Amino acid sequence: MKFLIINGPNINLLGLREPQIYGTQNYASLCSLVRNACKELDIECELFQSNHEGAIVDKIQDAYQNFDGIVINPAAYTHTSIAILDALKAVGVPTVEVHISDVSRREDFRQISYVSKVAIKTIMGQGIDGYRQAIEYLNEYLSK
Ligand code: DQA
Repeated sequence: MKFLIINGPNINLLGLREPQIYGTQNYASLCSLVRNACKELDIECELFQSNHEGAIVDKIQDAYQNFDGIVINPAAYTHTSIAILDALKAVGVPTVEVHISDVSRREDFRQISYVSKVAIKTIMGQGIDGYRQAIEYLNEYLSK
């Protein structure tokens, strides 16, 4: 099995970025957590991070027939991007949405998630461990 792990804008600044909300672990730590979680389940993975909406759309399009599952934290694009929603709908690759923080307890403008409309599950407020939970969930879902 092969998973694509997508992170949106400013996730590359983890550790530096509002550590009281996003924690002190950096993007490199997130990448090794993801690689280890996939390795334990014998899953191949590719990690992709971009600050650009169109680049994320291109990557989702490339996932068609190339990946079995997607784990995505669209970051701020969660709350604005119909283009990312449409790309996920177009390729039909099972997708789990992750947020490091608990967006349900934050500002009003974070209460909308377009990606939630297509995601088979949303994990939030678990810190970077949420990515491991997403990988495990996707693995179980696809193994059924
Ligand atoms: C985030 C939550 C978003 O509202 C925010 O814009 C982010 C990160 C999270 O992981 O908690 O950049 O997706």
